[in-house]
Amino acid sequence: MPDRSETYDAIVLGGGAAGLFCAAIAGQRGRRVLVVEHADTPGKKILISGGGRCNFTNRNTAPDRYISTNRHFAKSALARYTAADFIALVDSYGIAWHEKTLGQLFCDGPSRQILDMLLAECAKGDVEISLGQPIEAVDHADGQYSVRFGDRSASAPSLVIATGGPSIPKMGATAFAYDLARQFGLKVVEPRPALVPLTLGGDDVLFRELSGVSADVVARCGKTEFREAALFTHRGLSGPAILQISSYWRNGDEVGIDFLPDAPRGWLAEAKRATPNMTIQRQVAAQLPERLSEALIGRLALDGPLNAITDRKLEEAERRLADWRFTPNGSEGFAKAEVTIGGIATAGLSSQTMAGNTVPGLYAIGEAVDVTGWLGGYNFQWAWASAHAAAQAL
Ligand code: FDA
Repeated sequence: MPDRSETYDAIVLGGGAAGLFCAAIAGQRGRRVLVVEHADTPGKKILISGGGRCNFTNRNTAPDRYISTNRHFAKSALARYTAADFIALVDSYGIAWHEKTLGQLFCDGPSRQILDMLLAECAKGDVEISLGQPIEAVDHADGQYSVRFGDRSASAPSLVIATGGPSIPKMGATAFAYDLARQFGLKVVEPRPALVPLTLGGDDVLFRELSGVSADVVARCGKTEFREAALFTHRGLSGPAILQISSYWRNGDEVGIDFLPDAPRGWLAEAKRATPNMTIQRQVAAQLPERLSEALIGRLALDGPLNAITDRKLEEAERRLADWRFTPNGSEGFAKAEVTIGGIATAGLSSQTMAGNTVPGLYAIGEAVDVTGWLGGYNFQWAWASAHAAAQAL
């Protein structure tokens, strides 16, 4: 039996990026806030994010860089708490950062600095953080949410679901948010792994021999394309271009790769005229890593000097190199996915406050919600923005 029960203005479930930020803002607005985090330490994903340097936001944040059943849902929150707002907060703590590429902002030092900043913000708001206690039950009666965790129980008129998505379960990630949402009548859009390496089988399995080779490519799936690096792995394809496209990929879809995105149309025929005695292999190897060009040309079954190959065959080679089709046989799943696509359906939430429309006082923020950003700081920016939106209403 619980031996203590305390009352708060708001209870935030999950002490990750969104939960800590929401609690800090609400606390600083004078609310008495409790965060219940089942892990022994808060913000574990922040610590490992951005390769240990936390890619904490992206200067190019815009709603079209988010995937959601309702593509308009994220607009309001993103407009009211912007990348510039978060940068100002980071600057106020003297945390040094740099822009890496494509608007991605990383800490110069360890990710820990962002977590420490969030914890300092929580301390400013007198937020109480309970760690290492599993949540046993959540109920709602007489306008109060009661949460039982370990030997304690707490109640509040507002409850914020901020327990994230199931990606990387070994870090304490769970599907708890979805169970809770359903308990209170909210729907859940089928979750699937995103920003995840894709695996190759069948004929494509031979490409696994290229493990470790990377190239600047355009990766396409359907109408979506990303220009970044792709990396061959011992299981298939990874690297930023593939992680990005994985969010749009579904079982059975092909992924098209342009291995030479800067090559002008007709470049092989042109090369044949300029350097007729050069082998096609050498021509392609001048622009791609040697092992990759060998593998590609080998599969095209072309050999010998350019002037021994017909223009039609060169055209066909050019077309294949610009749109090499892979049919991944799967992904590396939630175990390796940086984020989860899907989650608590936005149809049941207010885009202004993140409040659920089934029972009063219930909110959902961060990755738990069916809003997923591109790779590059967009997911943290959604965590900050959705947390900020909810905190204004608590
Ligand atoms: P988050 O997962 O951060 O927090 C949820 C919290 O709830 C966790 O602390 C968890 O322990 C807790 N919890 C879960 N179940 C619970 C339960 N039943 N009871 C109590 N607590 C529970 N994004 C980005 O923008 N830039 C980046 O550099 C990276 N890098 C990156 C690297 C790696 C390896 C991963 C896995 C992910 C990233 N991300 C990222 C994504 C980013 O980490 C993610 O989008 C945010 O952490 C989401 O914030 P949330 O607070 O919603 O969930």
